Amino acid sequence: MKIGILISGRGSNMVAIVEAVLDGLIPDSEVVAVISDKTNAEGLVKAKERSIESFPITRKGRTREEHDAEIIAELEKRGVELVCLAGYMRLLSSEFIRAFPNRITNIHPSLLPSFKGLDAQRQAIEYGVKVSGCTVHFVDEDLDHGAIIAQKTVEVKDDDTAEILAARILEHEHALYVEAVKRIAEGKIEIVGRRVVSVKN
Ligand code: GRF
Repeated sequence: MKIGILISGRGSNMVAIVEAVLDGLIPDSEVVAVISDKTNAEGLVKAKERSIESFPITRKGRTREEHDAEIIAELEKRGVELVCLAGYMRLLSSEFIRAFPNRITNIHPSLLPSFKGLDAQRQAIEYGVKVSGCTVHFVDEDLDHGAIIAQKTVEVKDDDTAEILAARILEHEHALYVEAVKRIAEGKIEIVGRRVVSVKN
């Protein structure tokens, strides 16, 4: 399976996926491009260090649709079959979602549908939940809304700051995202309505 990864920053989830592919944990797969909407994303360097083609495509004052069209073209040129969003901080246009139907995944640092959008860890602390976590889901037209592939719970402690909770959740994000991509690569899951279920043999 040819994988393209979109990032905006640090890229630790991207690195987890790249390394899992290089280590053969995600079978018969290759990360063919890492694209950032920010020229200075740390993740671009981390991808290069692992010999993965990586480059920025910035918005440059264009519309979302024009920007996305350039990204779609680069992904299609490389035969990408799965697009993984990994800390990609832009909403995708409908055109983007239609170009890769049920073939775009995202990781979000909360137990969806709670705490969608920015600063999910801070939202969780301010709400007072005792358990939060992370979610890998397919991407649809609504923010942090698509069918859920996998979730992992993480305890929220009394003295947590948003930064401390974010770090605790991040420790689990990498394994969760790798496991989800592995199941997709192995053809082990299917979407029924908005439920992601294991394929029965
Ligand atoms: C992660 O917390 C992820 O859940 C969220 O953005 C952050 C990206 O971190 N969508 P990284 O760039 O993968 O290190």
